[in-house]
Amino acid sequence: MNVSVHNKQIQATAADAIVVNLFEGVTRPGGATGAVDTALGSADGIPGSGMISRLIQLGDFKGRLNEVAVIYTQGLIPAPRVILVGLGKSNEFSRDRVRQVSGTAFRKAAELGCRTVATIVHGAGVGGLDARQAAEATVEGALLGTYSYREYKTRDGESTPGAIETCLVVEYDASKLAEVEAGARSGAILARAINAARTLINRPPNALYPAAFADEAQAMAARVGLRCTVFAEKELAEHRMGGILAVGQGSQRPPRLVMLEHAPEGVEGAPLVFVGKGVTFDTGGVSIKPSDGMSSMKGDMSGAAAVFGAMQAIAELKLPRRVIGLIPLAENMPDGAAYRPGDVISMMSGLKVEIISTDAEGRMLLADALHYAKQFNPSGVIDLATLTGACVVALGEGVAAGLFANNEAWAETVLRAADAAGERMWRLPLYREYGEKIRSDSADIKNTGDRNGGVGTSAYFLYRFVEGEGEYPWAHVDMAGMMFSKENKGYQVKGGMGYGVRTLVELARQS
Ligand code: BES
Ligand code: MN
Ligand code: ZN
Repeated sequence: MNVSVHNKQIQATAADAIVVNLFEGVTRPGGATGAVDTALGSADGIPGSGMISRLIQLGDFKGRLNEVAVIYTQGLIPAPRVILVGLGKSNEFSRDRVRQVSGTAFRKAAELGCRTVATIVHGAGVGGLDARQAAEATVEGALLGTYSYREYKTRDGESTPGAIETCLVVEYDASKLAEVEAGARSGAILARAINAARTLINRPPNALYPAAFADEAQAMAARVGLRCTVFAEKELAEHRMGGILAVGQGSQRPPRLVMLEHAPEGVEGAPLVFVGKGVTFDTGGVSIKPSDGMSSMKGDMSGAAAVFGAMQAIAELKLPRRVIGLIPLAENMPDGAAYRPGDVISMMSGLKVEIISTDAEGRMLLADALHYAKQFNPSGVIDLATLTGACVVALGEGVAAGLFANNEAWAETVLRAADAAGERMWRLPLYREYGEKIRSDSADIKNTGDRNGGVGTSAYFLYRFVEGEGEYPWAHVDMAGMMFSKENKGYQVKGGMGYGVRTLVELARQS
């Protein structure tokens, strides 16, 4: 979808559909929506007498969040359709609601087969949003809400509805134009990065294995100007990354560690480090999972996808901040060569880990990456991982990710970034007792605790590789509940969510 900004009146814009909005409870539309309403009135152009007013008067449109109505304009304006979308209550308005309503409206337009869609900038000047933020969120919503994964759809080519070619962002106030243009540009960069993450999550595990992910990262890095280093088995062994090697050893497709670096010229200072769990498929290994629903474990690299997408966006936005992305990749398979329960693994940090369950593999990958991160003296580290079913039990599917941290200020910073990004995170405690549950009789620690408190013990396991010499402000995000969206809603579409990209970019912008 092409995105461009135009200094025009929306009711005078030629397109297959124009998008306008309405807050809940408004009886007389104002602004751009009012202008469209007036243009859709009886020929004498009396304000408040148009088709949108009529819809409101009849009680057919309330303005509830994500409510949509399509109005056919009968030649009164150049566009044959108006898509009216509800913004919800004005006192609940937010940047995320802009994304949602824009996603809803554009998906409706796509369903109707529209090719060119013009939209106003939702909410500029309302709810504390400036024109740039409002335009960014409007464009993000449009591109995210119309995403669809089509790599393996061979029998319904380009003519299927869903392919909007052109998005016209229309702003009548010339003084806002520069801000709207900047926002539209960054919104498109962000949404494309999130959609790239979604595609990696949706891609089947026979096509996306560790080396394939690394190839994607290398190609992306070359395109946007990131430095990219890939450790294959040889380099992993040289660095004694026992955790990554152990998880990967049961697969025909060997493990990798990808490092992406954004080092803008003339920018000094300690870097941010992002770490993403990249299990391209998680069978559980020898501690094999039940086959019901196992296919969803192709999404067990959603943390890696978030880091990939965020690094892409940060490079394209040219943010003046040093950022390093670390992506440990492995496929967790049962095999004659696989690691087993009872094995003791020597990790890069030197800690010896007794394996209780080979299904607790994500923490093995992350542990080596978190230890590796120490050499960069980072100002802050955040890892994202689809780590535990226990986190999904605690916080729900598609509701929120869990956040752990060893540093109050860094936790606050991350929560603020997540809030600005519209990505839910809920803080959970890193109590010492979780550490006691992973004491081992035969090694330094074991890789699982008992059935209870599984999200806490997994976080504490990671902390054992962060604490001590070279310890940095660290946050761990368990996003196991945020792999896939089950429905089309707002800017979310069924399939990989692309959760985490916006929070990471926000961190690079703010911290
Ligand atoms: N990838 C899974 C966690 C997961 C479960 C993500 C459900 C998304 C949805 C992880 O590798 C795993 O298997 N965790 C185990 C840990 C246990 C063995 C301590 C789990 O949660 O059961
Ligand atoms: Mn697992
Ligand atoms: Zn896993």
